[in-house]
Amino acid sequence: MKNIVILISGRGSNMEAVVRALDAEGWPARIAAVISNKPEAGGLAFAQARGIPTAVVPSKSFATRAEFDAKLQETIDVFEPDLVVLAGFMRILTAPFVEHYAGRMLNIHPSLLPLFPGLHTHQQALDAGCTEHGATVHFVTAELDHGPAVLQARIPVLPGDTEATLATRLLVEEHKLYPRAVRLFVEDRLVVENGAVRIVEPGFDAISI
Ligand code: GAR
Repeated sequence: MKNIVILISGRGSNMEAVVRALDAEGWPARIAAVISNKPEAGGLAFAQARGIPTAVVPSKSFATRAEFDAKLQETIDVFEPDLVVLAGFMRILTAPFVEHYAGRMLNIHPSLLPLFPGLHTHQQALDAGCTEHGATVHFVTAELDHGPAVLQARIPVLPGDTEATLATRLLVEEHKLYPRAVRLFVEDRLVVENGAVRIVEPGFDAISI
């Protein structure tokens, strides 16, 4: 049984998709906690209603990133996570924090990485004249939005699309993509080799090299 800690900053719809899929599909995992850096994050209410422990580490209250990340790490580690899932967690993380969770922290980013790291990804895709847009689930490494990709979802950019329409259509795909990726991790089916992810068959003895 793997322990999953999910970090959110807001609405938490991706967190909700992961929680629902875990329950519906009976993964060998449990959501040990949902933790937010914002007390007003909408997703906290959903977690509480499902009986999932929640915690808030308010990023506003810390003078430096290092202090915030240290407190966050301490809060997360109480729940002994096998996996930390960043679900709309809008923080740049320090290298020691990322290193502590190396190989066991996933993020979902709303672009086809390596295209458009950072913010405003839908507008970036429109400005670049892309005919295709998407989302990426990746392992988190110290370089922002650059870790090994696990899975991607793609959508076409349609005539008349705006930042808002792209975001709405992509979110539907994110809600399918993130649970698939987290499930692969839970089933020990992700092997990172030479900076890339290999997905192995169920039951394969995934010995990391
Ligand atoms: C999602 O679209 C996610 O991909 C994006 O924020 C949204 C969070 O929505 N994440 C990032 O931009 C990370 N850089 P949610 O709170 O409803 O899951």
